[in-house]
Amino acid sequence: MLLDTYGRVATDLRVSLTDRCNLRCTYCMPEEGLKWLAKPELLTDDEIVRLVRVAVTMLGVEEVRFTGGEPLLRPGLVGIVERCAALEPRPKLSLTTNGIGLERTAEALRAAGLDRVNVSLDTLDPEVFQRMTRRRRHADVLAGLAAARAAGLSPVKVNAVLMPGLNEAEAPDLLSWAVEHAYELRFIEQMPLDAQHGWRREGMITAGDILASLRTRFSLTPEGEDSRGSAPAERWIVDGGPHRVGVIASVTRPFCRTCDRTRLTADGQVRTCLFAREESDLRGALRAGADDAEIARLWKAAMWGKKAGSGLDDPSFLQPARPMSAIGG
Ligand code: GTP
Ligand code: 5AD
Ligand code: SF4
Repeated sequence: MLLDTYGRVATDLRVSLTDRCNLRCTYCMPEEGLKWLAKPELLTDDEIVRLVRVAVTMLGVEEVRFTGGEPLLRPGLVGIVERCAALEPRPKLSLTTNGIGLERTAEALRAAGLDRVNVSLDTLDPEVFQRMTRRRRHADVLAGLAAARAAGLSPVKVNAVLMPGLNEAEAPDLLSWAVEHAYELRFIEQMPLDAQHGWRREGMITAGDILASLRTRFSLTPEGEDSRGSAPAERWIVDGGPHRVGVIASVTRPFCRTCDRTRLTADGQVRTCLFAREESDLRGALRAGADDAEIARLWKAAMWGKKAGSGLDDPSFLQPARPMSAIGG
């Protein structure tokens, strides 16, 4: 079991498969991209599957989410999913993606055993999309979403970050669209995880702002505390149901007390939190010949060092040295 000193148990593993991305979202990375990890630094497919196997069979992990960067850029993704789906006990398998390329891969991913997918889409306007991501790929994302639905990945969740001066007025339109297509939409507060360190609390759009904007067009009823569990999204019932909308308020309503996550970076470091300043090197141990029991011991020791919370409200808060795309969203 992956237990920390605050009594939290991690059952949800997020695995970053690459730090690379084919978009350049302004809240994530600069136009020129980042200094990407070199191939030998990345975990191999075998190493990833081995670490997932240790997590699932020895440490009580129940759900595995593949992230990035953009995980669809990882050539071995379908094979990794297939091998993870063959583990006993079988973990739930999900993917968080920007949707580009999903049109081509959704079927194969489903067949390999992927259960569900979260797709990032911040705007319905191709021009605004281009300004937010610096790429003209809006239609690819919509096609990816449709393919995910058609392939039977369910639920299909959509993640939207609202940015001042860009898509801030779009919340109600995005929700109308999501209701129409039966996608589960979640709005995410912008977090200080961008490579450029441009985040300012005063500049961000809060959960309160988002709810006020949605309430100009919809009636929202809280789903209730119990339904949230350890999930980061707080959910509201839209116009009496059955549709729901979520808000992930990591900044103004942090969910650290119920956090059930552990993370693995693309270069094989365990991180206990998105905002952690420490990492534990499992890749080094793997490549030095550690056996499964030793890997499990290192992972548990890392978990024991998990901090109470993100520290975002501390005056001394420092952004993690690595940006979100390198940590794994
Ligand atoms: P499900 O609700 O289970 O589908 O997953 P999720 O919402 O956690 O996953 P997703 O990858 O779609 O992430 C949505 C947002 O939540 C992203 O902005 C993530 O960065 C953020 N997020 C994921 N895990 C954490 C976490 O441990 N802490 C914080 N603060 N944010 C997180
Ligand atoms: N703050 C909040 N969400 C972010 N994402 C990427 N960077 C940030 C940030 N700085 C979102 C992406 C994607 C999810 C994995 O995280 O849009 O939906
Ligand atoms: Fe790529 Fe995701 Fe970062 Fe956008 S937020 S640039 S899609 S890694």
